[in-house]
Amino acid sequence: MSGKSLQTELPQDKLPAQAKIVIQNVSMGFKIKRSNSDEEKDFQALENVSLTVESGEFLTIVGPSGCGKSTLLDLLAGLTHPRSGKLFIDGKPIVKPALDRGIVLQGYGLLPWRTVQKNVEFGLEIKGTESKKRHEIAEQYIQLVGLQGFEDRYPYELSGGMKQRVSIARALAYDPEVLLMDEPFAAVDAQTRDLMQDELLRIWEHTNKTILFVTHSIEEAVGLADRVAVMSANPGTVREIIRVDLPRPRRISDVRNTADFNRICRRVRDLLENANTGGTKVTVGSAAPAGGTPRAAQTASPSEAAV
Ligand SMILES: Nc1ncnc2c1ncn2[C@@H]1O[C@H](COP(=O)(O)OP(=O)(O)OP(=O)(O)O)[C@@H](O)[C@H]1O
Ligand SMILES: [Mg+2]
Repeated sequence: MSGKSLQTELPQDKLPAQAKIVIQNVSMGFKIKRSNSDEEKDFQALENVSLTVESGEFLTIVGPSGCGKSTLLDLLAGLTHPRSGKLFIDGKPIVKPALDRGIVLQGYGLLPWRTVQKNVEFGLEIKGTESKKRHEIAEQYIQLVGLQGFEDRYPYELSGGMKQRVSIARALAYDPEVLLMDEPFAAVDAQTRDLMQDELLRIWEHTNKTILFVTHSIEEAVGLADRVAVMSANPGTVREIIRVDLPRPRRISDVRNTADFNRICRRVRDLLENANTGGTKVTVGSAAPAGGTPRAAQTASPSEAAV
């Protein structure tokens, strides 16, 4: 961790005009201890990740299991600190969790001693929202995620998908500017997933939130996003960023069967296959999009393409 660098604000002249989140050359690793020896091995989870997310952007992240997606979100949440590199929100270094970032963790992150209602109210309590208002807002989001009637249940009394929905309601309820969502719909049934995707898009369209959303579903990644960051593993890095120029406002069901949607999905799938087989670094211009214009090849920081 580079404690000193975390204290430094990003000079305003270095901050891209619309940047909400800036990730600069971030590397992260872990010490792995073998149970049968005292020896510690070093594991590099992320290497040299650089990414700028614009204010109000919906960015999705895909990549093979273990490529560091959750590690990256933990860093952005301020739950951990990088070994090297820097992360900024609004030009200020990320040092700890704060109310400007709503987090939906892969493991739900619910407070086991609180009921559904009290879990959803948690962020509002910290924000200082008065009790009656807090109750009303929580009810609204509990309804949104389809958990009315379960307000008094404790997390251990819920299914995985229900816990996931509580976690989503909690993150949305206190209205953070940034949402960090780690496979938020992975454990919910297909029908609920469709509804939640549409609802998330509707909320995003009306609130100008910046969303970073990790998923293993290519359709979900493309259907939701302005841009899809494709990661590869060993060590984890952002391999390419695909711009999704599908019309807005958008519902996934409206675009799902279009040629453009399928072409972009194919491109992401190709990149992921490449990432899984450890192929050579993908460069912009390596794809041949239907009707696309030739693009200049780049191999530096993650290349960006509209396919
Ligand atoms: N606390 C930790 N200690 C040791 N290794 C860790 C730790 N956290 C993550 N790792 C390792 O870092 C790598 C990246 O993990 P991470 O959870 O970020 O992957 P991921 O891309 O989110 O995977 P998935 O899609 O399966 O959720 C993995 O190899 C994992 O084993
Ligand atoms: Mg993960």
